[in-house]
Amino acid sequence: MKILITGGLGYIGSHVTTLLLQNNIDVVVIDNLENSRIQVLDGIKSITGKLPLFRKIDVSNESEMNQLFDEFTDIGGVIHFAAFKSVSESVSEPLKYYNNNLGGLQQLLKQIVTRSIPLIFSSSCTVYGQSETLPIREDEPLKPATSPYGSTKKIGEQIIEDCCKAYPDFKAILLRYFNPIGAHSSAKIGEYPVGVPQNLVPYLTQTVRGIRPVLKVFGSSYDTPDGSCIRDYIHVMDLAQAHIESLDYLLKKKNVEACEVYNVGTGNGVSVLELIESFESATGKKVPFELSDPRPGDTVSAYADPSKIETNIGWKARYSLEESLYSAWKWEENIKN
Ligand code: UFG
Repeated sequence: MKILITGGLGYIGSHVTTLLLQNNIDVVVIDNLENSRIQVLDGIKSITGKLPLFRKIDVSNESEMNQLFDEFTDIGGVIHFAAFKSVSESVSEPLKYYNNNLGGLQQLLKQIVTRSIPLIFSSSCTVYGQSETLPIREDEPLKPATSPYGSTKKIGEQIIEDCCKAYPDFKAILLRYFNPIGAHSSAKIGEYPVGVPQNLVPYLTQTVRGIRPVLKVFGSSYDTPDGSCIRDYIHVMDLAQAHIESLDYLLKKKNVEACEVYNVGTGNGVSVLELIESFESATGKKVPFELSDPRPGDTVSAYADPSKIETNIGWKARYSLEESLYSAWKWEENIKN
């Protein structure tokens, strides 16, 4: 049996592919390489000694997906990452996001619902918006999305839930990630943003490396202990492990509901200023930063209650914030531009 990873050369996908190969699971990776690089395969090979089966396929291309499922008749599970993920780009190019993220999901579902192939879906804590209660539980009422990107995650979840109702043998898990950071400890794979990074940690590591002049802390007078925003930063290897354990749970039919939803976070809320301090203590490097205006659309505080995934699936985050930031820095130092 093979596991299909869509977007398997992207940031999170490449770490999950690596872990699956290390668990001796046969992996088929598809990726259209629009936001990832073929060299990621070299990194995966040098860590695991193996290569996944790779096809350069766009998940939203119906005929390519037909060919894929004709070629591999033993796909027993799918982890779906392939999607665009820039919040700001989604605001200026909404159709690009709806076409790709929802069009791709629908093409994938067309293939798997009738074959009853279980699915793990890459969702996001963005579906909660600014939650009324903290830490955030899965039953927290969802807010209207603040960007087309967020809408695609919310609608994607809904489409999958509807398919689980319509096809009784089709099962899925929706994983709502909090803020993934860091890289594999080998520094052979990691996050490789195209253009100017929009996320905090890659911007920070590029600033320390001298590629950017200064890190702007977006907002310093929020109603938080130090005035900066609070997030739940999770090591990408912990997140990858959550996928492996969720997949195992689905394949062993331990799920109670056809479609189950889980937060994937550490449960620790960390402010931007605290993260900068942790980075400095983990690496011994100074971070050039300045306090700046809030970024429009940012939520003030978001951190997970991860007890549901711990109780049902047995997964728990293991890496500390310092370990996550140290791995991000080792990866940054290793990136050859
Ligand atoms: N931040 C800065 N300076 C920067 C970049 C970010 O201060 O240069 C701050 C932000 O204001 C925020 C925190 O760092 O307070 C984290 O910002 P990120 O952009 O790294 O992450 P977000 O929480 O905004 O976004 C992430 C994912 C999205 C997802 C969202 C869900 O990147 O894909 O979580 O809330 F939709």
